Amino acid sequence: MIEYRNIRIALLGAGSVGAEVASLLLEQGEELGERVGAGLELVGVAVRDLDSPRTADIPRELLTTDAESLILGADIVIELIGGLEPARSLLLTALNSGADVITANKALLATHGHELFEVAEQLGAQLYYEAAVAAAIPIIRPLRESLAGDRIERIYGIVNGSTNYILDRMDAEGISAEEAQRVALELGYLEADPTLDVEGHDAAQKAAILAGLAFHTAIPLESVHREGISGVTQEQVSAARAAGFVVKLLAVCERLQDPDTGEDGVSVRVHPALIPRDHPLGAVHGGNNAVFLEAAAAGPLMFYGAGAGGLQTASAVLGDVVSAARRHVIGGPGVAESTHANLPVLPISKVTTRYQVTLEVRDEPGVLARIASEFSEHGVSVEAVQQSVSAAAAGGPEDGPATATLVIGTHAAREAALSATVAALEASAVVESVSSVLRVEGT
Ligand code: HSE
Repeated sequence: MIEYRNIRIALLGAGSVGAEVASLLLEQGEELGERVGAGLELVGVAVRDLDSPRTADIPRELLTTDAESLILGADIVIELIGGLEPARSLLLTALNSGADVITANKALLATHGHELFEVAEQLGAQLYYEAAVAAAIPIIRPLRESLAGDRIERIYGIVNGSTNYILDRMDAEGISAEEAQRVALELGYLEADPTLDVEGHDAAQKAAILAGLAFHTAIPLESVHREGISGVTQEQVSAARAAGFVVKLLAVCERLQDPDTGEDGVSVRVHPALIPRDHPLGAVHGGNNAVFLEAAAAGPLMFYGAGAGGLQTASAVLGDVVSAARRHVIGGPGVAESTHANLPVLPISKVTTRYQVTLEVRDEPGVLARIASEFSEHGVSVEAVQQSVSAAAAGGPEDGPATATLVIGTHAAREAALSATVAALEASAVVESVSSVLRVEGT
């Protein structure tokens, strides 16, 4: 067997993931080297402050505050500092110095991925990022390699653990959104800026990465339609439960035809949605993640597991280290990102899906017919209507005009038509309020 010199690995960042990566490399580097056929050597760990307390026992001599110099002597650079800068500049330095790079930085990839992949391709280097989406769950490599010969039609992802935890607690225990969020915060599930999770930014970044791989198309982050969970109420969650659904924050990436031009395109969107309780994603509880996808030949597949956590995320990073080291031993250029399809990302108004609309209405003769006509005039077909007496009106006529709650499920309809229907309902004299509009997916 040919003997290779040690492959030199530089680690940038020793936070919750970086510290675990350092520990695993120090403990298991020899065994991982056997898998590669070359020695793996952690040559240094760049940190902001040498004296910060850290969870892993990293030998002092490996720590440095000089990331640039560390990078210049490395074959593989692992970026686990997060944020856009200096992460972007450091990765560019690493690529330009001839290193392969590994990152878990979804924000960086969703924002500057195009630039980084282009530089990597020009230099024949490779950028690995298995940990950037759904942490421990292998999903990047399956999309990039195992399913490269198939055609992905649709992805439904639960890719944000903290919002899944919040919605799951609301569903299981009937607690309010505020209470569930307070618990998630106490458990440290939310990002330092909780709006990144709650308003769907984190999930949108991951959706852009997944859709790019699935559809061989560069997906600008701005083209991802994003709605978070801050408007989801306990009333919606319990009504969903009663109707056999569960509310999840979904990242949806799907192929569709532009309804106006007939041309192929994709939709990439993040929003709360109702899914049937018996859908495989209905069983994703707590802070777990899952990616359910439909491929033309393979059919439905689901990838499930931990979407966060230092040790769990480190597993994905270490997998990338082994891949990068093997590539280094074999030599040759890296495999470029495939964006040949270059499909347009269509706006949400062109999406077709099913909806559930909840209305408070006056309980009088002819009201149902007027509401039904608003749907039909906008070309939206009603599938089911359920009526119940509103709690406010339950006391009897002396409490004011009788009102009822109507829950209307639609057949598949265009988002633009549904929005126009909702606007007309809001303006209608027989409608007191439109209390909820939720998309229904996975049926
Ligand atoms: N804030 C993320 C989540 C962590 O809740 O899933 C992993 O990206």
